[in-house]
Amino acid sequence: MQNIIIYYFSGTGNTKKITELFAEAFGARGAKVTLRDIVSCEAPSVEGYDGVGIAYPVHGFNTPEIVTDFAKKLPCGDGKALFAIKTSGEPLRLNDASSLELSRIAISKGYRFTGERHYVMPYNMVFRHSDAMAAKMLATAKERIPEDARAILNGSLPPLDYPLRARIMTVLCKIERPGMRLNGRLYRVDKDKCIGCMKCVRGCPVGNIKFEDGKFRFGGNCIGCARCAFGCPANAITTGLLNPIKVNGAYNFNADPDEAAIGAYCRKSYEKYFADKSE
Ligand SMILES: Cc1cc2nc3c(=O)[nH]c(=O)nc-3n(C[C@H](O)[C@H](O)[C@H](O)COP(=O)(O)O)c2cc1C
Ligand code: SF4
Ligand code: SF4
Repeated sequence: MQNIIIYYFSGTGNTKKITELFAEAFGARGAKVTLRDIVSCEAPSVEGYDGVGIAYPVHGFNTPEIVTDFAKKLPCGDGKALFAIKTSGEPLRLNDASSLELSRIAISKGYRFTGERHYVMPYNMVFRHSDAMAAKMLATAKERIPEDARAILNGSLPPLDYPLRARIMTVLCKIERPGMRLNGRLYRVDKDKCIGCMKCVRGCPVGNIKFEDGKFRFGGNCIGCARCAFGCPANAITTGLLNPIKVNGAYNFNADPDEAAIGAYCRKSYEKYFADKSE
């Protein structure tokens, strides 16, 4: 592969960070790389590229629907290589089958699905990792990406292994998609906290937040990307039934990774992830 296009979706910046590290690593190996945000790309093109990447955050053990819908719009692959890059908040194997639907779409469009690489990044929903853990996750990804980029370029990614329980989880968790649309209608803005910056309105990837007649209105298209609530500078957005697991505020990735203390939650999986040479 010499000329690669990577289409990415990133709700709160983690996947974008990883995609940019890949662009650097591919570039260092002499490949030309173009990055495109799925949100602002109406008609995907793969013309002139010999490799296509799709990067996404795992949502409910699946590829987010905004990404699978986008993949359905890809032109015919004519045997081109297509690989996935994904981020998730935890290293559980239940995330392993998240690219299943994406790989099927790619194959049905005539691409060769060559595999995926998976990076653990801090949660933007569920609970807040410490800044030191966030820094350790990013540092781990930085260590691994140059070698992973080499494997993608050489076509030597390991074969995909979709454990049965992960496959079952992806099927069951598809309920998350209509669930997010319904729950999105329950989002609210606390007017006493809101500073009126309109970052939420401008940033929503599906235009689901309107400010009309002095009031915020949340529509029925929410994809649960967490961008509005995570990025609100006043922590003024409540997220309906998901509010108890909301995370607000950017991580400080410049914290000291050596200070990271792995908590009780999924301790073994995190320890294994950090210890593995290649995830
Ligand atoms: C709606 C939603 C569902 C999520 N589901 C999972 C999940 O099933 N497994 C997981 O490990 N992380 C899950 N996460 C965490 C994100 O995958 C993780 O924080 C990711 O790095 C966010 O990437 P982004 O900043 O590019 O959006 C979920 C996050 C959101 C907002
Ligand atoms: S991002 Fe937060 S502070 Fe800014 S307008 Fe939206 S709710 Fe208000
Ligand atoms: S309303 Fe918030 S969580 Fe829902 S899609 Fe828009 S930015 Fe994402």
